Amino acid sequence: MALGGETSRHGMWSSRWMFVLAAAGSAVGLGNIWRFPFIAGDNGGGAFILVYLLCIFLIGIPIMMAEVLMGREVRKSPINTLRKLVTVSKASPAWILIGWMGVAAGFFILSFYAVIAGWAMDYVLVTAQGTFVGVTGEGAAAVFNSFLESPLQLMLWQTLFMVLTVWIVARGVSGGLELAIRVLMPLLFILLIVMLGYAVTTGGFGQAAEFMFRFEWERMGVEGVLAAMGQAFFTLSLGMGAIMAYGAYVPNNASVPGTVTIIALLDTVVAIAAGLVIFSIVFANGLEPGQGPGLMFITLPLAFGQMPLGTLFGTVFFVLVSFAAVTSAISLLEPALAFLVEEYNAVRSRVAISLGVITWILGLGTVFSFNIWADVHLVGERTFFDLLDFLTNNIMLPLGGLLMGLFVGWVLPRKLLADQLEMPSLWLNIWLFLVRFVAPLGVLTVFVYTLYRAAMG
Ligand code: PFF
Repeated sequence: MALGGETSRHGMWSSRWMFVLAAAGSAVGLGNIWRFPFIAGDNGGGAFILVYLLCIFLIGIPIMMAEVLMGREVRKSPINTLRKLVTVSKASPAWILIGWMGVAAGFFILSFYAVIAGWAMDYVLVTAQGTFVGVTGEGAAAVFNSFLESPLQLMLWQTLFMVLTVWIVARGVSGGLELAIRVLMPLLFILLIVMLGYAVTTGGFGQAAEFMFRFEWERMGVEGVLAAMGQAFFTLSLGMGAIMAYGAYVPNNASVPGTVTIIALLDTVVAIAAGLVIFSIVFANGLEPGQGPGLMFITLPLAFGQMPLGTLFGTVFFVLVSFAAVTSAISLLEPALAFLVEEYNAVRSRVAISLGVITWILGLGTVFSFNIWADVHLVGERTFFDLLDFLTNNIMLPLGGLLMGLFVGWVLPRKLLADQLEMPSLWLNIWLFLVRFVAPLGVLTVFVYTLYRAAMG
């Protein structure tokens, strides 16, 4: 029997499909619809995407299996899960630091995630008012830029988003969250298909596909390799314990490799679809693919302004992006929340509110990065937001994943792994090879290579 018994004190997913949907809810978010297209655009497209896909399949999926199995084995928050695993395998307590680093990464990410999700919420209203009907590329950019210039507006939406997130998290694992995910995830898929249908008619689809799938290495710099790996971790919610926390609520009858593969495939399909939609519109309208974080907020409104029923579709689309963001945000809070509840026997809702307040304050740094602190540069040319984004995505998540791979692959007993994964021994060995060697060495190589190239100028 598993170390943590049959159920978790925090609650359980009602079925294995619910776990798939919840983890897909965590994985599919701003990372797919907002971040992936703009990072791919900034890094030249095709070659970047190839490296990204390699990272998903060779590193992401094996590490996701490692996270889920650790969570399900102990059925506690990531920090306490690591504590228990360290004790039973008589390993060094230093491994527990993975859990602490994850909690920190969760705060950092959620702090800026809430601000960006706030943009999507604002765009629900702006689109619904018909602002974008017949808009030009410049017009759409102007709407977005004038919004960014107002710290108060950004704070308003950031606050609303945090309240929504905290409210859902406070209600617990099954009380509301499951329902929301059940309705929203399928809707999001349907809308993406509608948007893809539109993208095909724009005349930019061929160019978009070429931009995304033509591997011209010279268009991607070294930084692109690091960004691709970071994006793979971010989009699958890996390396910080979110999936480990969700794993603690997975019923015993679920197959870890099976569910994880489905989750990763869903996530990848959404990212590729979002990229195709956005770049089709970009090319059809003579816009630039590398326009940074504003990409989605400028190109999509342009399309909504031109397509039939665009105001309706646009409004619904931004509602769904907001909800996709909420289902990810909850998972960013869960590791810290579950830990505090366990440690202090605290009431879930109180902990949720306190964590929400701390994150909100940290988020102000991101709010100001787009206006009053736009010229404050930290470490290179980075704003506060850029720095947090770089630190979490490109350093903390891959590092967390690297350490988890080493811990699971080299420290945990094979019997425990075999019992959790229930795979034929050939597959188990392949997986072990990936978590022991491929994932850690992959992350390490990218780190060393980027540092080396940065040092060489
Ligand atoms: N995977 C989410 C996205 O792609 O938007 C972001 C995320 C959620 C990252 C949860 C990390 C995490 F733990």
